[in-house]
Amino acid sequence: MSVDPDKTDVPPRPELFDFHGVSMTHVFTDNWENVQNFQARPDDILIATYPKAGTTWVSYILDLLYFGQISPERQTSIPIYERVPFLEMMLPSAYIGVDLANNLATSPRLIKTHLPVQFVPKSFWEQNCKVVYVARNAKDNVVSYFHFDRMTQVQPEPGDWSSYLQRFMKGKMAFGSWYDHVNGWWKKKQAYSNLHYMFYEDMVEDIGREIDKLCSFLGLSPSVEEKKQITGGVQFDNMKKNDMTNYSTIPRMDFKISPFMRKGKVGDWKNHFTVAQNEEFDEDYKKKMKDPSLQFRTVI
Ligand code: PPS
Repeated sequence: MSVDPDKTDVPPRPELFDFHGVSMTHVFTDNWENVQNFQARPDDILIATYPKAGTTWVSYILDLLYFGQISPERQTSIPIYERVPFLEMMLPSAYIGVDLANNLATSPRLIKTHLPVQFVPKSFWEQNCKVVYVARNAKDNVVSYFHFDRMTQVQPEPGDWSSYLQRFMKGKMAFGSWYDHVNGWWKKKQAYSNLHYMFYEDMVEDIGREIDKLCSFLGLSPSVEEKKQITGGVQFDNMKKNDMTNYSTIPRMDFKISPFMRKGKVGDWKNHFTVAQNEEFDEDYKKKMKDPSLQFRTVI
């Protein structure tokens, strides 16, 4: 199956609803049985993130590491959202993540999810699949999510920034609470050794170092030349120019409102949070983020 971006057969702006204690939209729950019954293979690699934490960036890095040399034509002909299917996404006759994943001919298969850890299909754990989780600091994450929700019709109506920020703090976002998401996956990492937990801020600070760490987790040893090509290709400006990684092929995203590859920075939250919003956010954050071993940087 291939994706037909012109057929985004969903009603405008889905509503949030409570789904087993997590805010979701039907776009990500309509195919639930098939998602839950997805049969992972031992060499599948799951890329898991809260939305807007760096999924596309790490997906592209993994795709280049595994397939950049052996099938370079992929890089110019298949958009990243087909190379790395979004498992739980269900837009009938346009994009069915489970089908795309099942039809992947690659080995390994790279699969994207935004699911909180408790919703991940059990076969990934049973098969002891490698999992790469990327987390991003809450302030930049909510700013990026806000602009994304403004520009895409498959997300709930964002409203204004101030009400959006309140909703984020309450976890009333598609895929639920950021706080529960990053903590849930962090706890999983303590029990499940095949999980590599990365931070967006570390990637911005030194992508070469983070690719090295990723390679040692994956058991890969790219040549110096290959690594140079990858670090160059995955730079923000290059991914923004690249139609196979910048989502420009999806018409339901209105780049005039905000591009998918928007800023790619740490600290843009300072251009959005008022002093009062920042104080309220920090106060609330302290109450929710009690685990001292999980620390985020909001500046680098
Ligand atoms: S999604 O829709 O959840 O899959 O979005 P996701 O890819 O997780 O996150 C999008 C944000 O990641 C930024 N991005 C990058 N930043 C730095 N370098 C590179 N190469 C890069 N690629 C993607 C993208 O710009 C979004 O962040 P914001 O802050 O909105 O710019």
